[in-house]
Amino acid sequence: MVDISNIKNIAVVGAGVMGYGIAQVALMAGYDVTLVDVKENIVNNGLAKIKEGLKKAQIKGKLEEGVPISNIMSRCITSIDLSSAVKESDFVFEAIVEKLDVKKQVCNLVMENSPPHCIFASNTSTFRITDIAKDSNKPENVIGMHFFLPVVLQCCVEVMKGEKTTDNALDIGVEIGKRLSCLKGKRFSVRIEKESPGFIANRLLMPPIIYLSWIFDIAFEKGIPWEQIDADAEARKLIPMGPCELTDYLGVDTTYNVLKSYEKMFSPDFAPGKVLTDLVLKGYLGRKSGRGFHDWTTGKPKINLNIKAGILNPEMTMAIMLNEGCKLLEDGIVSGYKIIDDVMLAGASMPGPFGPGKRNYEKWSKMLEDFVEISDKKYLKPCNLMKSGGFIKMRR
Ligand code: NAI
Repeated sequence: MVDISNIKNIAVVGAGVMGYGIAQVALMAGYDVTLVDVKENIVNNGLAKIKEGLKKAQIKGKLEEGVPISNIMSRCITSIDLSSAVKESDFVFEAIVEKLDVKKQVCNLVMENSPPHCIFASNTSTFRITDIAKDSNKPENVIGMHFFLPVVLQCCVEVMKGEKTTDNALDIGVEIGKRLSCLKGKRFSVRIEKESPGFIANRLLMPPIIYLSWIFDIAFEKGIPWEQIDADAEARKLIPMGPCELTDYLGVDTTYNVLKSYEKMFSPDFAPGKVLTDLVLKGYLGRKSGRGFHDWTTGKPKINLNIKAGILNPEMTMAIMLNEGCKLLEDGIVSGYKIIDDVMLAGASMPGPFGPGKRNYEKWSKMLEDFVEISDKKYLKPCNLMKSGGFIKMRR
């Protein structure tokens, strides 16, 4: 039985954009942190990003008054040798590349070399915790903890079990989640009782990409400029950015890889379309590579919202999310829809589908049925709970 008060040393494996964010909020919460990656220059870059992040937090008055940043940074050490780095770790966050075999290797190595009580929390976007933990010597101590980008500002963290995870490990994960800092307020640490690859938010966010990827391919065939597709979406203000800009922002390859995993786990309908595949093959990965759908070399692209393509219906994304949310309820992943809407707001900064869904479920079910008819994307067929409106009684 692990006691939360015994958790003092935290290791974060992976010093990329998620890893250094998690390390920063753990430092701000008072933990001792070891940041681990495969190369010296990567951990040093992570360290510099944490320092930069702490300076911003200080300017916003989010750090304890009078405590110099150097004091906080003195609780952070770095390593490029995972086995020795976790020798005294009580809790390990894994935020490495989204590849199952690499995550499994790291999980095994951490569990072999850390103290027996150590808990391993994977920030995977797609994989089953059961699969990551399967060959480790302590699968009962492996959980999923899914953060959102940027970690310091997005207060939500979803915490989930694998098949062998103990309730105690899950409890500790939820509690650590609550204690980690967030610049926008209290951290919202969500306990998910039943394993669901993609947790809640990604389960809702990925199926609309089946539709969007289909739209990208149609737009390409018709020679429609990408900014007109973004303008279609932005005009209705249902999602914070247009789909091309958002894909660029998150990383075209990230979307592509998640779709490939979902294709294997859920349905062939998730297979990335021609446009997404071509962008990845050309190395046009979005904001991080300077070019994706849009040119990012001079910063955020300026989208002219006045010229629309008129082929993307933003309501479809809400309809698809409502359907997926209803499937989560049907599968018993969550017992009421309020938690789904709360996660979407706190994690993805967008309203969940259930508020408008209560009024629109009949119209949206029909929209989905019509889309399935023309696209043959059967995964998007509305489920019974959505069609019947039965979810309305399941608020909680
Ligand atoms: P990233 O590419 O920025 O960073 C990954 C880091 O892991 C790299 O620095 C890489 O050198 C390091 N790494 C790879 N193999 C390693 C190993 N064996 N040992 C130690 N370090 C290793 O990726 P990012 O975006 O930070 O994502 C990390 C994880 O977080 C992924 O699983 C991703 O699916 C998940 N995630 C990402 C979100 C996002 O918006 N970027 C949101 C939520 C979860």
